[in-house]
Amino acid sequence: MPELVKKKQIGPSTALYPMPTLLVAVKTGDDSANILTIAWGGIIAGRPPIIGIAVGKNHYSTPFLQAEGNFSINIPNSQQDVPADYCGTISGTRDPEKATTCGFTLVPSTIISAPLISECPLNFECRTYREVEFSGSILFMGEVVETHVAEAVLNEDGRIVTEKLDPLVFLPNREYRKIGDFISKPFSVGRQLAR
Ligand SMILES: Cc1cc2nc3c(=O)[nH]c(=O)nc-3n(C[C@H](O)[C@H](O)[C@H](O)COP(=O)(O)O)c2cc1C
Repeated sequence: MPELVKKKQIGPSTALYPMPTLLVAVKTGDDSANILTIAWGGIIAGRPPIIGIAVGKNHYSTPFLQAEGNFSINIPNSQQDVPADYCGTISGTRDPEKATTCGFTLVPSTIISAPLISECPLNFECRTYREVEFSGSILFMGEVVETHVAEAVLNEDGRIVTEKLDPLVFLPNREYRKIGDFISKPFSVGRQLAR
């Protein structure tokens, strides 16, 4: 008999490894937009693609997200940890010009009112599909209506090269990290166990 792995119960937790570091941008006025950092988010549907983000009800951005009905999701690379952290620790109430402070250039989206962060290598234009309220937060489900990828991170076949995209990853023990080594091919490697 194999020996069972000894475990300790640590209670309800958010220790889900890894999480993305998402920079969410929303229009806040005729010529203004705010950026906030979100780690509690991910793809929740494929056709059409939908990304869910959990946003605290009391954040400066929240009423704008609700009023605009759209937002952009911008993926920072591992060099952009400082601005990503700034956007997640300083509220728009204190700095309504976060993009300028971070040295980010906001450019218009093609479909939605929220701008995109030019310096981030990957951007999604999302139109809110549904909102679900929890006790302290709102899950915004955004249908991805357009995706923008920096040419520099694509190979000749137009596919994203992970090492070139180099997305900034968030870990629940409060660390920013890079993506690690290639292991094997999904939807393929497991077949060796098929009988
Ligand atoms: C790495 C990181 C991840 C975060 N993830 C979330 C999140 O998933 N949901 C959330 O509501 N706030 C999250 N925050 C906190 C908000 O980004 C932060 O409160 C921000 O200042 C809100 O911006 P605003 O007040 O300008 O809207 C995160 C912050 C950091 C640094």
